[in-house]
Amino acid sequence: MCGIIASIFKNQAVLPFLLEGLKKEEYRGYDSCGVAIIEPHKIHIQKEIGRIEKLKEHLFTSSSKVGIGHTRWATHGKNNLNNAHPHISNKGLFCLVHNGTIYNYQEIKEDLLNKGYLFYSQTDTECIVNLLEHFYLQCGDILSSLNELDKTLKGTYVLCILFKEENRIYFLKKSTPLMLGKSKNGLHLSSDMRALELATDYLDIEDNEYGFIDENHYEIYKAQKRIEKKLYKIQKEKEDTNQVIPSFYMEKEIHEIPMVIDRIIKHYQNDFDIKIKEVIKKANNLIFVGSGTSYHAALRGSLYFENKNVQVILASEFDLNSIKNDNALYIFLSQSGETLDVLKVLEKVSHYDTLGISNVANSSLLRKCKYALEMKAKEEVAVASTKAYVAEVLLLYLLAKGINQNTLQNLKDIQQEIKDHLLHQEKILSIAESIKNKENAYFLAKGKDIYLCKEASLKLKEVTYIHSECLFAGELKHGPIALLEKDFPIFFITSLKNKENLNSAIEEVTAREGIPYIFTYDEHNPLGYLPLITDFFLLSFHLAKMRKKDVDKPRNLAKSVTVD
Ligand code: F6R
Repeated sequence: MCGIIASIFKNQAVLPFLLEGLKKEEYRGYDSCGVAIIEPHKIHIQKEIGRIEKLKEHLFTSSSKVGIGHTRWATHGKNNLNNAHPHISNKGLFCLVHNGTIYNYQEIKEDLLNKGYLFYSQTDTECIVNLLEHFYLQCGDILSSLNELDKTLKGTYVLCILFKEENRIYFLKKSTPLMLGKSKNGLHLSSDMRALELATDYLDIEDNEYGFIDENHYEIYKAQKRIEKKLYKIQKEKEDTNQVIPSFYMEKEIHEIPMVIDRIIKHYQNDFDIKIKEVIKKANNLIFVGSGTSYHAALRGSLYFENKNVQVILASEFDLNSIKNDNALYIFLSQSGETLDVLKVLEKVSHYDTLGISNVANSSLLRKCKYALEMKAKEEVAVASTKAYVAEVLLLYLLAKGINQNTLQNLKDIQQEIKDHLLHQEKILSIAESIKNKENAYFLAKGKDIYLCKEASLKLKEVTYIHSECLFAGELKHGPIALLEKDFPIFFITSLKNKENLNSAIEEVTAREGIPYIFTYDEHNPLGYLPLITDFFLLSFHLAKMRKKDVDKPRNLAKSVTVD
C-alpha cells in the first residue's frame, strides 16, 4: 500500500517534483521512501527510513529529467533500507517501484536463485525487477518482457520502471490504480490523482496494460497489441489560497465539521441528481460496502433506509456467493475512494447498479461507479478519519429521507449543537487528563448505539494506542468483566430515552471500582448522536497529544489502504 510517482520533464529537473508528489502520497504509507533518476547510462537511487522530509534533507542534487519515487507501507519484510523502494536488478539494467502484493513471489524467487540471481531484500518487489531483467536478457525487448511479466506475476501490481539506457519510464498495471497525466512540462505516472498536480489531462491505465512515457508521448499495450487511449481534462477545484499548516490536522478537521455540514447543505440543497434519486427509489435491496470508519458510517447511516432491505458488508469480508438478492443497488463508502478492499468488491459487482460516495472527486471509486456522490468534506489529511465520517452519515441520511425543509433543518440544528460541543471541551479535556495513563478502555452500548461505540473505540486505539474494545453492554458480565479493575475507564453511549437500559451494566462497573463515563444524546433530532461522536473524536485527539503520539500519522497506518 504505497504511493508511486514517476515523471519525465522536457526542460526541468525531476527531483523537486518527485519530492512534492511523494509528500502528497505520504498518506498511502510512511514507513520509508525513495527516488531513482536516470543519469547518462546510470541509475542513481536514494532511500530513507521514515518521512519524505528526511529524504529531502539528505538528497543528492541532479538535473536529471527522468525519475521515479515511492513511499512505502511495509508488507513483505521489515521496515529497513534494503526493503525500501526503488529496487534495482542484479545487473543494474532495471530499477523499479511497486505498489501491490505478489502472491507467487516465493516460487519466482526460488527459480531466480537457481538461475544465479542474488537477493538483498525480503520484498516481493525485488523478484519482479530481477524477473524483468531475466526476460529482457532472453528476448532483448522491454515491451515483450513486460508482457511476459504480466503473464507470470500473480497478485496486484503497479510498476514504474527505469531502464538504464533510455530516457523513458515503463509501466505495468494490475488491480491497483495507475494514472497517466500530461502537463505542459512533460508526462507523469502516479498511483494517485493528488500527486498529478501539474497535469491538465489524464487517463486511467487499466489492468494488464503496459507501455512507456517519454517527454512528450506515451504508448500503451495490452497482450502485445498497441491500444489508443484518449486523455480527459482534469476538473480542478479552486485552491484555497489562505491555507495555513495547522499544528494538528486531526484537530483542524474535527473543527471543520460544522463547515462540512454547510458545504453539504449548499451543494445538495437543490437535490441530488435525478438519476441517483430514481435508482435509490426503485431499489428494494441496498448493499452498503466500506472499510474501517466508512464501514461504521455505513452501519449507522444505513438505518435511515427503514423501508428497504439493507445489508452492510465489510469490504474485506465480501463474498458474492453469500449475497441473497441478485437485484441490488451497491452503495460504496470510501473517504479516499482508493481503498483496495472496496475497489475489489466494486470490480466483482460492476454489472449491478453501483453508487460511490467519496471525498475525492477524481478517485478510482467515483470514476468507476455508475453513480457518484461527493462528500464535500474537503481534503482530509490526518490519517484518522473524522469529518468524513460525519459527511458519510449525513449523505446517507439525506439520500434516505430526501432533501426537504425538515431534513435540512435537522442538519442546521445539529451543526449548531456540534459548534457548542467544539466550544466547550472542558469536560472532554478533564476526562482525557484522568485517563491519559491508562492502557485499556471499553465502549459499551445497546442496540444501534453499538455502531457509535465501534467508531469511538476505533478512533481511540488508532491515535492513542490505548487498547480499547467495543461491547454490547449486556455482554460485559459474560466474560470481558474479567479485565475490570480499579479505575478502569468504561464509556457508555446511549440515547437519553434508553439510558436506564444501561443501569445494570453501570452497576456492575461501579461495584468493581471501574469508572463509568456516561455519554447521552437526544434522539429528538435523528442526527442527535453526531455531537457525541465529535466529543469522542476530540477525546482521542487530546489523549494522543497528551500521550505525545504522532497524532496525524499514527504508527503502522496509512491514510489510504491500497493493499488487500
Ligand atoms: C480510521 C480510518 C480507517 C479508514 C479505512 C477506510 O480512522 O481512517 O479505518 O476509514 O481505511 O478508508 P476509506 O474511507 O478511505 O475507504
